[in-house]
Amino acid sequence: MTIKSIIKNAFTVKNADELIAASKKTELKKTLNVFDLIIIGIGAVVGTGIFTIIGTAIQGGPEGVGAGPAVIVSMVLAAIACVFSALCYSEIAAMIPVAGSAYTYTYATMGEFMAWMVGWILMLEYAIGNITVACAWTGYLTQLLKGFKAVLPSFVVNFPMWMRNDYRYMFSFCDKYGLDPHSQMPYLFGIPIAFNLPAILIVLALTVLLIKGVKESTRFASVMVAVNMFMILSFICVGAFYVKPENWTPFAPNGFEGVFMGAFLIFFAYIGFDAISTTAEETKNPQRDLPIAILGTLILCTVLYVCVALVLTGTVPLEQIDIKAPIAHAMRVIGMDWFSGLISVGALCALTSVLLIYQLGTTRILYAMSRDKFLPKSLRLIHKKYRTPHVLTWISGIVVIVCSLFMDLNISAELCNFGTFTSFIIICIAVLILRKTEPNRERPFKVPFCPTFPILGVLTCGGLMVYSMKSLKTSSTYFPLWLLIGFLIYAVYGYAQKRAEADLQKRRKRRIAREVDVSSK
Ligand code: ALA
Repeated sequence: MTIKSIIKNAFTVKNADELIAASKKTELKKTLNVFDLIIIGIGAVVGTGIFTIIGTAIQGGPEGVGAGPAVIVSMVLAAIACVFSALCYSEIAAMIPVAGSAYTYTYATMGEFMAWMVGWILMLEYAIGNITVACAWTGYLTQLLKGFKAVLPSFVVNFPMWMRNDYRYMFSFCDKYGLDPHSQMPYLFGIPIAFNLPAILIVLALTVLLIKGVKESTRFASVMVAVNMFMILSFICVGAFYVKPENWTPFAPNGFEGVFMGAFLIFFAYIGFDAISTTAEETKNPQRDLPIAILGTLILCTVLYVCVALVLTGTVPLEQIDIKAPIAHAMRVIGMDWFSGLISVGALCALTSVLLIYQLGTTRILYAMSRDKFLPKSLRLIHKKYRTPHVLTWISGIVVIVCSLFMDLNISAELCNFGTFTSFIIICIAVLILRKTEPNRERPFKVPFCPTFPILGVLTCGGLMVYSMKSLKTSSTYFPLWLLIGFLIYAVYGYAQKRAEADLQKRRKRRIAREVDVSSK
C-alpha cells in the first residue's frame, strides 16, 4: 500500500445520499416530534453550567480570573459563538438527517480520517462532559441531604467522604488538612478505596432507562426539565425582589480578560443543543423539526441565563458568590434556606436530564461510527425487545463510571469545552464545503449571510479557545494529548479495520456474484 493510496483512503468522503440511504435502513424507532426535541435540547443544555460553573465564571478559578457581574457579557459572547454554529448545525441536520451529528457531517465533507477525529473529539464533549455533570450531581445531592439534616439520620446526611469523592480528591484533601489518608479511606490489599457512589448509581440507573427506550427516556427527561425550569423561573422571580444595583459595581473587575475567560467557561452552559441532531434518525419530520428545535433551544436558554446571571450578581455581593452551588447559596444569603433546598432539587433534575441526554448522544455517535465500520459490528447490536443499541449504551455508561473514579470536575469541563469548540468550528467549515461541493442539494434550512456567518462561527469559537489556552495550562495540555491518542488509534486500528471490512464486503459480493453465475448455468 502506497502513501498515496493511504492518503486517498483517509480523505475519501462519504456521499450524502449513501448516508441518507443507510439511515433509512435504520432499526431505530422514529418517535420524536419537535416538542420532544426541544425537551432534549433544554434537558441537555440547562445543567452544570448555570447551576455550578457560573460561580467560577464570576469569581475565577485556580487558572483564570473571573468576569464579575460582566458574566452577562460573557454569556452573550458565548451565545454568539453558539448561534453561528447552531445555524450551521440546522442547515446540515435538515439536509442530511442521519444519526451521528458532527461526526457524520464531517464524513460527508472532509473524509474518513477527519470523521474519525471528530467522533473522537465528540467523545470529549459527551462522555467527558458527563463526568463533569456526574461529579456536580453528587455535589448537589450532598447539599440537598444537608438541607434535610433535621429529618434524615446522620449517617445519610454525613455519609463518608470516601463514598462521594474520587481518590485523587481524597488525597489532595488529606494533604491540604494534614490528615493521614489511612484514617479517611479504607484500604484493600494496600489499595486506597474511594469512589463517587452517587455518581455511579445515577449513571447506572440512567443506563438502564436508556436501554428501555428513547421515548421512555425523553418522557422522563421532560419531567426533569419541567421541574428545573420551574425552579429557575422561581429563582429569577423571587430573587429579582432582592437585587441591589450597587452589587453590579465594579461591573468588570478583571476587564476583558475576565470577560473572555468567563465566556470560555460559561460556554459549557450552552453545550448540548447539538445533541438534538444526534437523534435525527429517530425524528418523525427531521427537515422541519431539527432547525426549529436547535434554534429555539438556544434562544430560550440565552434569555434564561442572562436573567439568572442578573439576579445572582445583583442579590449577592461579588466576593460572597459561592463557586460550588451559587444559585442555592444566593437564596441562603437572602435568608430563604427552604428555597435553597428546593433549588437543589431543581439542580438535581437538571443535571439528571443532562446526564441522560449526553449518554443518549454518546451512544448514537458510537452507533454511527460502528455502522461506518470504525468499530466492531458486535457493538451496534440492537436490543430485540426495546430496539435500542444496548451494548453501546452499557459501554458509554461504564466509561463515565470508571472515569468518575479519578477525574476532576473543572478539568473535565474545560476539556469538554475544547472538544465542543473544535466540533463547532468543523461544522461551520463543513457548511462552507457543502455549499461548494453540493450546491444543488435540497436545503430545507439555509444559514443566512453565508459565508459570513460560518466564518464568524469559526472566528468566535477559535478566538475563545486560543485565548483561554494561555491561562488554562492543564486542560490545554491534555487536549492535544487526547487528539494524539485519537490519531494513534486511527493509525493503528481504525484505518486497518475499515480496509478489512471493505475487503470482506468485496469478497462477499464476488462470492454472491459467483453463486448467481453458477446457478444460472
Ligand atoms: N450544558 C450542559 C450543562 O451545563 C453541559 O450541564
